[in-house]
Amino acid sequence: MAKIPTRITVIGYGNVGKGVCEAVNRNEDMRLVGIISRRGADDVRRAAGSMQAFSDVAIFSPKNFMNPSNQVRLNEITDVAILCGGSKQDLFSKEDDPNRYKGQGPFYAQFFNTVDSFDTHSRIPDYFSVIDEIADKFGHVSVISAGWDPGTFSLERVLANAFVPGSKNYTFWGPGVSQGHSDAVRRIPGVRDARQYTLPVDDAIRQVRAGKNPELKAGQKHTRLVYVVLENNDPKERERVKAEIVGMPNYFTGYNTEVRFISEGEMRGDHSAYPHGGFVLTSGNTGRGNKALIEYRNEWASNPEATASILVACARACYRLRQEKRSGAFTMLDIPAAYLSPQSRETLLKEWM
Ligand SMILES: NC(=O)c1ccc[n+]([C@@H]2O[C@H](COP(=O)([O-])OP(=O)(O)OC[C@H]3O[C@@H](n4cnc5c(N)ncnc54)[C@H](OP(=O)(O)O)[C@@H]3O)[C@@H](O)[C@H]2O)c1
Repeated sequence: MAKIPTRITVIGYGNVGKGVCEAVNRNEDMRLVGIISRRGADDVRRAAGSMQAFSDVAIFSPKNFMNPSNQVRLNEITDVAILCGGSKQDLFSKEDDPNRYKGQGPFYAQFFNTVDSFDTHSRIPDYFSVIDEIADKFGHVSVISAGWDPGTFSLERVLANAFVPGSKNYTFWGPGVSQGHSDAVRRIPGVRDARQYTLPVDDAIRQVRAGKNPELKAGQKHTRLVYVVLENNDPKERERVKAEIVGMPNYFTGYNTEVRFISEGEMRGDHSAYPHGGFVLTSGNTGRGNKALIEYRNEWASNPEATASILVACARACYRLRQEKRSGAFTMLDIPAAYLSPQSRETLLKEWM
């Protein structure tokens, strides 16, 4: 008998939101039933272009969703809502009153089981406790901060640390595009477009792999390569913009940064994808000093599609947890691997152990 698919509503139709729609198509046990976007149905259809027809998908703006009959309708057809808004401004923000929170995470946890990829690491404990309270109160499961970092990288760090106590853990990101750094460069006056690639330092990785357990500052683990399109590409302007980039505190100071100036056509042709990836390396000893090295690597040609694929697997787990009458917030650390998998328990035991 065919399985009943898990019904997904996507909230926020950006890069990750589009990726979720694609990932749902690649999973036979998933079906896209709804989209909520601040840009409304026409804009979503336009942005999707020929990629997807969305003929039997309910598309709402948040304003339409406030209409109680629409809320009931979407609620009835949705098993899990995947929140794809940005971490900085959309998912979680604190109002002036410290006891009140707003944002898509706390809001939609009242209506749906949810999955999100909130990635502001320092605020995860705070976000977890706010969502935990709301999801529990409304009888929902909310899987927060899923994706690859936080997400699968967190899982790797925790597993390796549990297996090799006293080990040292290193996370290297890249080669890949950092959207935060690219946005920061785009805010410099005179910059028309920019793409920032984070590159891991090979020598640092070699030292870790050799079991040397080096102490590494951030700038010794990664370098930065920036491609810039200028409004006015003359030598003086290049010098000024380059100086602003390499001297930008919190983003580029302390790093070896290379800046390359290119044309708009080169940017469009060579830098329109969002590749990313990285390594989690754990180095330590077992027994009386036998070397132990655990290495986990991701290489994603599309960061948003990769993140989206993980979110969809988490939606499967989210719904299974809810079917067990669980409620509250969960992270990928709390989810059994079998719950993420589309394979039956029997197949997992026979073929994947
Ligand atoms: N955990 C991880 O490993 C991981 C990895 C990658 C990303 N992330 C997280 O995922 C978040 C979303 O990333 P993203 O790449 O999807 O960001 P994005 O493309 O900027 O989308 C964020 C939101 O902006 C709005 N938006 C998108 N395109 C727009 C446009 N053309 N005009 C106006 N509004 C637009 C969308 O909301 P509306 O549809 O409502 O307008 C969308 O939900 C990131 O902030 C990050 O926190 C996590």
